[in-house]
Amino acid sequence: MDLIVRRAAVAGIEEPVDIGIRDGRIVRIAPSIAETAATEVHAAGRLVTPSLVEPHIHLDAVLTVGQPRYNQTGSLFEGIEIWGERVRTLTHDDVRRRATQAIRWMLAHGVTHIRTHVDVCDPTLTAARALLEVRQAWRGVVDIQMVAFPQQGIYSFPDGESLMVRALDLGVDVVGGIPHYEWTREYGERDVKTALRLASEYGRLADLHCDETDDDQSRFLELVAAETIRLGLQGRVTASHTTAMHSYNNAYAYRLIRWIRNAGVHVVTNPLDNAVLQGRFDAYPIRRGFTRVKELLASGINVCIGHDSIMDPWYPLGVGDPIQACFVMVHYGHMSGYEEFQTLLDMVTTRAAASLGLTDYGLAEGRAAHLVVFDATTPMDVIRTIAPRLAVISHGRLVARTTPARSEVLLGAAPEVVTFQP
Ligand code: FE2
Repeated sequence: MDLIVRRAAVAGIEEPVDIGIRDGRIVRIAPSIAETAATEVHAAGRLVTPSLVEPHIHLDAVLTVGQPRYNQTGSLFEGIEIWGERVRTLTHDDVRRRATQAIRWMLAHGVTHIRTHVDVCDPTLTAARALLEVRQAWRGVVDIQMVAFPQQGIYSFPDGESLMVRALDLGVDVVGGIPHYEWTREYGERDVKTALRLASEYGRLADLHCDETDDDQSRFLELVAAETIRLGLQGRVTASHTTAMHSYNNAYAYRLIRWIRNAGVHVVTNPLDNAVLQGRFDAYPIRRGFTRVKELLASGINVCIGHDSIMDPWYPLGVGDPIQACFVMVHYGHMSGYEEFQTLLDMVTTRAAASLGLTDYGLAEGRAAHLVVFDATTPMDVIRTIAPRLAVISHGRLVARTTPARSEVLLGAAPEVVTFQP
């Protein structure tokens, strides 16, 4: 064995197990493995899950907060204005440096697979070229999928469609879209049709920003579902954000959810960004503006959680930790039921992996060894304490670790350690 994780608490297995890894794969999961390994990780009864999968981030925009100025209102529209100013100074090295930094943060939090959108509304495709280099540099440690994302619209930006095609020809993996942001509803419909036609022609996956608005008349998701079925793309299409669903009438939402299920469309919700961006035009009561996560899950649709932004003009916070997004989801999505904590972890691991189309992934013998050891014993405690990632394993190799902080109260004769456990 190259690596053994000792006494791991694993979902669905009663007692702690040893996990043996050889040549990048999980080769044995057993109550006790007699062999030894060059590297041994002692989980000591703590929770071990498949590594985290980030299904939705914008690596070209990360770590730009305050450049050239801070968003004072916190609104989407001021964010877009500021990004418009920042984008003029975008360079290859600038994108590469910031993306690399953010990936390090994410890896330290257990993320080994990332799907990033990259703005292709740029005749020079500067960000796409830089991220292609980043993707190559990280291959085998953090595996990256890129989405050709038409930030300003396929039909509301000059030559938008040919820029999408050029990005795909350059090697960008996934086809994106942004129908609700196009100038007109007709443009929006063409946006969806073009994105899914390109996915079909190029044999690629698709992931569209779709209905990211509080406007209950924004109804492009039904077209995404219909075109997915018509083109036979079931299971290969993801709709991101879909926040307008929050505001649809219940009869329409019921019909739509059946369509999404029939089309096998994956849904990504982004609790961090959408908690601050939605509901900005409301007087009280102010809508939360989330997609209908619980209803979607209940009807058998694959829903996962994305981080979306790390320190950019739209969302100034973030340390690249998907568990923070889970923490917000508990509150905004009313997901505090005990079993729902496991569901939340699934939404940043196995469910996110399904959206990315990963097959060689998961905590099972024979699968590629991508694992994370949390400093907590249950899913609820992982999210409650935003538990440190004691060890991160990618392709069978220990690639990151964290030493937990130690808190002490200094009131008695000797320091008293605080564990944050009841
Ligand atoms: Fe996004």
